[in-house]
Amino acid sequence: MSAESRLSAEAVTLAYEHRTVSRDVTLRIPDRGFTVVVGPNACGKSTMLRALARLLRPQAGEVLLDGKALHTVRPRDAARQIGLLPQSSTTPDGIVVADLVARGRYAHQGLLRRWSSEDEDAVREAMETTGTAELAERRVDELSGGQRQRVQMATVLAQRTPLLLLDEPTTYLDIAHQIELLDLVARLHRQGTTVVAVLHDLQHAARYADHLVVMSDGDVVATGDPSLVLTAELVERVFGLPCLVIEDPVSGTPLVVPRSEGFRA
Ligand SMILES: Nc1ncnc2c1ncn2[C@@H]1O[C@H](COP(=O)(O)OP(=O)(O)O)[C@@H](O)[C@H]1O
Ligand SMILES: [Mg+2]
Repeated sequence: MSAESRLSAEAVTLAYEHRTVSRDVTLRIPDRGFTVVVGPNACGKSTMLRALARLLRPQAGEVLLDGKALHTVRPRDAARQIGLLPQSSTTPDGIVVADLVARGRYAHQGLLRRWSSEDEDAVREAMETTGTAELAERRVDELSGGQRQRVQMATVLAQRTPLLLLDEPTTYLDIAHQIELLDLVARLHRQGTTVVAVLHDLQHAARYADHLVVMSDGDVVATGDPSLVLTAELVERVFGLPCLVIEDPVSGTPLVVPRSEGFRA
């Protein structure tokens, strides 16, 4: 893809103390695109997202934001550009929803600037669009997994960043809330936000992505239009799953149907 890219990983090696996850991998995020990252468990998707969000510094290569090595960008400046919904996160004990979402605005407050009406608007809008306004006074640690995931999403949206990195944003949601959340992200995308989302559901990936990234064993093994990338051969090779790929009757995008035989006949 020859699209412009504000955010990219250039020949990065990503590692934890004793484990190298990705070696010499390049991934460019198309500006204003809806990029979906798929790949088997433990292939390095979250690690890549953490590097793109400045939480993990590459051992070699660079993550670039607007041509500048991301680790040299001040944390506050990076936080104004890049919002991350982590795969899992801990929250302060006893904090209520409204306070947690408000914390999303911290990056926007300079030392001398007080809470503004813009902060107020951002928090209210984020809670309304994620359906969490009615949870405002509830303790976060007393919410269901799905409620908590929508609250985390509100916290990221309240940051109003032009780049949005979402690590499995739908994992804890029922099917209706999954679609509702993905439609919300698609709306933000249409309004100009650059989206990168890790998803496990290949049907959703094919429907929402305009740029699919397939990872396997730390590497990026395929990128492009989901309709071209998502073939039975690729799914079998990367996930080890024999399958058929048919046309999704609603969206016309690829629909992966497993060829398993263990089900009730
Ligand atoms: N904090 C960590 N320390 C050491 N190894 C880690 C850490 N986080 C993840 N890993 C390892 O890195 C690999 C990639 O993990 P991850 O990026 O979370 O995969 P994915 O998100 O694709 O499931 C896995 O082998 C995982 O065990
Ligand atoms: Mg992960």
